[in-house]
Amino acid sequence: MYLTTALAFALSLSPAAAVSKGFNYGSTHNDGSFKNQDDFQNEFKTAKGLVGTEGFTSARLYTMIQGGTTNTPISAIPAAIQEKTTLLLGLWASGDTFNDEVAALKSAIDTYGDDFAKLVVGISVGSEDLYRDSTTGIQALAGIGKGPDVIVDYIKTVRSAISGTSLAKAPVGHVDTWTAYANDSNSAVIDNCDFLGLDAYPYFQNTQSNAVSSGKSLFQDAINRVTAHANGKPIWVTETGWPVSGKTENLGIPSTENAKTYWDDVGCGLLFDKVNTWWYILQDADGTTPNPSFGITGTSLTTTPLYNLTCPAVTSTSTSSSATGTASSGSSTGGSTGASTGASTGASTGASTGFATSPGSATGTPGSSGTGSSGVTPTPTPGSNASGTPGSSSTTPTSPAHTGAATSVSASMTGVVAALFALIVAF
Ligand SMILES: *[C@@H]1O[C@H](CO)[C@@H](O)[C@H](O)[C@H]1NC(C)=O
Ligand SMILES: *[C@@H]1O[C@H](CO)[C@@H](O)[C@H](O)[C@H]1NC(C)=O
Ligand SMILES: *[C@@H]1O[C@H](CO)[C@@H](O)[C@H](O)[C@H]1NC(C)=O
Repeated sequence: MYLTTALAFALSLSPAAAVSKGFNYGSTHNDGSFKNQDDFQNEFKTAKGLVGTEGFTSARLYTMIQGGTTNTPISAIPAAIQEKTTLLLGLWASGDTFNDEVAALKSAIDTYGDDFAKLVVGISVGSEDLYRDSTTGIQALAGIGKGPDVIVDYIKTVRSAISGTSLAKAPVGHVDTWTAYANDSNSAVIDNCDFLGLDAYPYFQNTQSNAVSSGKSLFQDAINRVTAHANGKPIWVTETGWPVSGKTENLGIPSTENAKTYWDDVGCGLLFDKVNTWWYILQDADGTTPNPSFGITGTSLTTTPLYNLTCPAVTSTSTSSSATGTASSGSSTGGSTGASTGASTGASTGASTGFATSPGSATGTPGSSGTGSSGVTPTPTPGSNASGTPGSSSTTPTSPAHTGAATSVSASMTGVVAALFALIVAF
């Protein structure tokens, strides 16, 4: 029940208007050169024409600054205007160039006016800064981060920068891992956000039983943990995906087949057209193939994906499955169908996900997932290099770790689990 409710809750709080669906877009190519407007336009066009899908018409960005400039607005903006692609803007917060990010934002507002403003779904201040600045992130050599005080300060700066402009009503939030949101030291960030952007990768949760068959339950667990700390703020899924190739992370095996399973289970099953979602990633192999590689179009930008993206037909999901649950659990009395059905569904899911798996694995080796090793960054963190400089090489060690999140959970997690359990019981 809790799981079901949590998700339903997150959904109901998403902007009623249109649900955003799209991909993440870095500001550089794999060789570190900067994308220009044509590059972004080709990507946005490809996303819209992706065989087997429709409506991947939103783009999440990591920086407002066009590569190679001080504070010129990123050329993804005119590209998005041309392609009618909506935008989750991002201001890179972990470098020392935040003022330039804000200047580029203001300049974009002045330069592109309402054509731009009407495409903006939200503004994210930072990306995984809290994770990188945490004990786990530091151990994982995840790169430069920023603490909660700085992020809160930056959020306020952005609110003041957009006040009285065409973007005044744009939701302002932050993107991070579930461990960052579940960490009470970061609660001021949540308090200051209009939405919480969540990056979650079961593939990297290598201290847990993370076969792709567990992908959906691990993902749901991440949502639940954030929900438990969200104070009702909407949760947007800013990154998730499964690699098509690359190294194995415990039971997490990259392959096109597994990537499809994850797409079907998590994308089609939980997210698309229900929750604002920016999948990771359309093309992740621009020139050289990263390891792991998450790109669904392989090494060239093409509308032909590496695997079938058509969502499986829906077999009257929750209603029928919960109905079954009710019957078999026998716990329901006629009147309370809703509650008891939920309970039976949720119970089984819950048991197999977070509650059973995470506490035990909480002691896992921090940073064992990506370790921020090579230039390969499953977290695009495009606009940054290891020092967190926007616009520089995409080879940043901001890695995978962000998911590795799971590995960080420690004793404090017990409390969270207990709280979740209490909620379940309450339901
Ligand atoms: C919790 O958050 C604080 C502030 O961001 C950070 O310093 C600390 O390392 C985090 N704790 C863990 C276990 O990640
Ligand atoms: C792709 O998947 C859909 C849904 O399962 C199916 O109907 C379709 O036949 C598949 N297409 C191909 C080319 O296999
Ligand atoms: C990375 O950032 C550092 C610190 O800002 C900067 O000195 C360096 O030139 C950057 N590296 C690249 C490749 O841009």
